Amino acid sequence: MCLKTFRQHMPVVQRCVFFDHAAIGPLPGPAAAALQGYAEDRTCGGEQSVDAWQSRINEARTRIARLINVPASAVTFTRNTSFGLNLVANGLAWASGDNVVVPYTEFVANVYVWRNLERKGVEVRFVPDRQGRIDPQDVSAAIDERTRLLAVSFVEFQTGFRNDLAALKALCHQRGIPICVDAIQGLGVLALDASALELDFVAAGAQKFLLGPMGIGFLYIRPDWLPRLDRVITGWRATLDPGNYFDYDQPFREDALRYEEGALPLALIVAWNESLRLLLDSGIAVIERHVQRLTDHLLEGLLRLGREVISPHRGWHERSAIVSFRPRTAAQALVRTLAQEGFMVSERGGAVRVSVHGYNTLDEVDAFLEALARLDRPAL
Ligand SMILES: Cc1ncc(COP(=O)(O)O)c(C=O)c1O
Repeated sequence: MCLKTFRQHMPVVQRCVFFDHAAIGPLPGPAAAALQGYAEDRTCGGEQSVDAWQSRINEARTRIARLINVPASAVTFTRNTSFGLNLVANGLAWASGDNVVVPYTEFVANVYVWRNLERKGVEVRFVPDRQGRIDPQDVSAAIDERTRLLAVSFVEFQTGFRNDLAALKALCHQRGIPICVDAIQGLGVLALDASALELDFVAAGAQKFLLGPMGIGFLYIRPDWLPRLDRVITGWRATLDPGNYFDYDQPFREDALRYEEGALPLALIVAWNESLRLLLDSGIAVIERHVQRLTDHLLEGLLRLGREVISPHRGWHERSAIVSFRPRTAAQALVRTLAQEGFMVSERGGAVRVSVHGYNTLDEVDAFLEALARLDRPAL
């Protein structure tokens, strides 16, 4: 599918220029139709159509697995990014005096889950950034013999800085600790091969660049971690034969489905399945190249307009679909005015955050730059 067709499946383009995927992405038409289809089906029945819905669950799981190149059996559905991170945080064995290393630029979702371990005597050790960049050397310096895990984002939420996961993984594995990646700000627009990178855990929610509904996400668990990650959440559906209601002695599954305790949010999964189909059919590599072109153009325009770009931008390797800059006027008010003119972006920490997707166009970037030049003018 070409990007033009992808765009045709995005009803949001009729309404506005949507550059706010780093906050909450819009649903594609086929995802909304799947939600409606599910609702209609459920008004007419229940268990009779379970098999049909189950096949959609399998499809969605397989698509998530394709997206990050891992086995589907290593992917568990979660209700959001935080839930996946919680499965890791609470599933590992910690002792008082252990520590977990976390960059200082992480979104709060990747902070409180770890701070919750402080009650067990675990230290959360923050690594400061260098002008928005996380330097693997600084991470290395923070790791000591009591470090049990590095928790880091694929892409940092405010600046869009793309972490060097290969370097971070290498230094973690040299020190014998796992790397846990919050991938929500990159997946859907940037390629991530979790198998090639040998990532240990990858968590994400569906609601941003993955164009899915809120309240659904996934956690990938590298298969060799499965026996070592405690079943802190489990239940009847995590047994080998969940349809066997009269046998209380069944063993639990050994794959990642052992954390899926009960009924899954089918409405959300069938919708997300369609978003994932659209992304994979468009091709993540194609989307990524286009996002690079869009953000190249945006960066050039912002620099031409004299705005201070706070996103590190020495090369594509450290960039993403997010570009943040300091406006000349108050960011929050500017974001509101831009929205009134049909440009959706967000404010984060006094900066304007622009986050594009593969269905956006260069014309939309030009229109945004024109609106910015007109609206971001301090009163004389
Ligand atoms: C890096 C990052 N992680 C996680 C989230 C969201 O976490 P959750 O899916 O648990 O709501 C966000 C933004 O909402 C984010 O920017």
